[in-house]
Amino acid sequence: MEISGARVLVVGATGALGGAIARTVHDAGARVAVTGRDADRLTAVGAELDAPTFELDVVDLERTAQRVAEAVEVLGGLDLLVVATGVPAFGPAVEADPAVTEEVFAVNALGAAGVVRAALPHLDGGVAVVLSAILADLPTAGMADYSAAKAALTAWLTAVRRESRRRTRIVDVRPPHLDTDLAAHALAGEPPRLPEPLAASEVVAAVLDAVRDDSATEVAWDRREGLVVR
Ligand SMILES: NC(=O)c1ccc[n+]([C@@H]2O[C@H](COP(=O)([O-])OP(=O)(O)OC[C@H]3O[C@@H](n4cnc5c(N)ncnc54)[C@H](OP(=O)(O)O)[C@@H]3O)[C@@H](O)[C@H]2O)c1
Repeated sequence: MEISGARVLVVGATGALGGAIARTVHDAGARVAVTGRDADRLTAVGAELDAPTFELDVVDLERTAQRVAEAVEVLGGLDLLVVATGVPAFGPAVEADPAVTEEVFAVNALGAAGVVRAALPHLDGGVAVVLSAILADLPTAGMADYSAAKAALTAWLTAVRRESRRRTRIVDVRPPHLDTDLAAHALAGEPPRLPEPLAASEVVAAVLDAVRDDSATEVAWDRREGLVVR
């Protein structure tokens, strides 16, 4: 897909990855609209990119559908959706607070799926890029709920890709641990020992490659090759 001139909605543009992707597609000539939950950071990123802003908590599925429809109307259509919302929680699974478990699934699985569901009718011939995580492939001790929620999201995206393969290309992005502040925003607990982080800029570049490559359906981590677009 050609990025220059594309109408793009970035959900979670107040975050590190979402913000960097929004800036990069904006610099490549896209027309961008942005959403975030934090009002101040949303205003700042909207002003920086001269982009319309939409405050959005993805846990509220009804409001999510309304916000996505409003953004599509303001953009005059939709060519590319980027979903970069997510939040982890850490600690042994048996000790997890049920309310935290619920929130982890509500944001990472149901919320991200809700955004895609709202946008799909508008994405005829377009692309949806969704941030899952390597944990979908490698569930990790100390991150059971976060791993399971990302695995649920990846399974849902796989099924939706099959349902919509003639209409919309779905790109599932499953990076390893990155050099962003995601862990500092955790709903609970302290992260286990994590490997050396990958630079988020590598994921941003791979996402752009995947958007441009009309056959790409995922950005994944390969132990030998590193980040791969395929
Ligand atoms: N960093 C990593 O190591 C890593 C690795 C693999 C996958 N990922 C995935 O990459 C994505 C981006 O992560 P990041 O590193 O950029 O983290 P980040 O900087 O913490 O960004 C997280 C984003 O999610 C948004 N968010 C959280 N809960 C939300 C809710 N209930 N409703 C709406 N928005 C909500 C935040 O919005 P506000 O700031 O406005 O509240 C923020 O925009 C996530 O899906 C994450 O799971 C990250």
